[in-house]
Amino acid sequence: MCNPIRLAVLVSGNGTNLQAFIDAIQLGELNAQIAVVLSDNPDAYALERANGGGIPVQSICRKDFLSKEAYELEMVEIIQRKAVDLILLAGFMRILSPTFLRNFPQKVLNIHPSLLPAFKGLDAQGQALNYGVKLSGCTVHFVDEGMDTGPIIQQAVVPVLPGDTREELALRIQKEEHRIFLEAVKLYQAGKLKIEGRRVKIMD
Ligand code: GAR
Repeated sequence: MCNPIRLAVLVSGNGTNLQAFIDAIQLGELNAQIAVVLSDNPDAYALERANGGGIPVQSICRKDFLSKEAYELEMVEIIQRKAVDLILLAGFMRILSPTFLRNFPQKVLNIHPSLLPAFKGLDAQGQALNYGVKLSGCTVHFVDEGMDTGPIIQQAVVPVLPGDTREELALRIQKEEHRIFLEAVKLYQAGKLKIEGRRVKIMD
């Protein structure tokens, strides 16, 4: 049995990915502790989910800081104080700069609702619909300094069905997000992920 992994989860919105982790921990599917949930949005529903799970929360707004650097350094301090092993960007809608990332090398994972490198950035589901792709999906990747560019750990494919609304597609993708994000954290915890350049090797 592995040691419990200590997680920081960064959120901006609804928090269904956060909820999936809370549930997996409660069900004993993941041996982890969420040490802190950080939100850049004080109204994020994710904060209520965290409160419901008895998880310490902190909302930290960019506008309360003079610079992006000061903002990120505050987040670094909060996370370091919690002795976190891994940071999950679970719908956190900001780009983290090297000021943040150099403190946590290979310790930040992001979930994105497309098959990267397609449809980076905002509203990936809307971009996929507008482009007319027949398949879309989601990606878990290590975070680097680019936008949705880091080495890919897991991807899942979902069909885009005729007549899909953005919301219908987003829901179909989200179900897979919850599954592969959890899977990626388990692989990380088991020490099975090895980054070689752009590739992430999954060790047996
Ligand atoms: C998820 O679909 C996630 O992939 C996306 O935000 C949503 C958050 O949902 N993230 C991005 O687009 C990051 N580029 P949630 O708050 O319900 O977990």
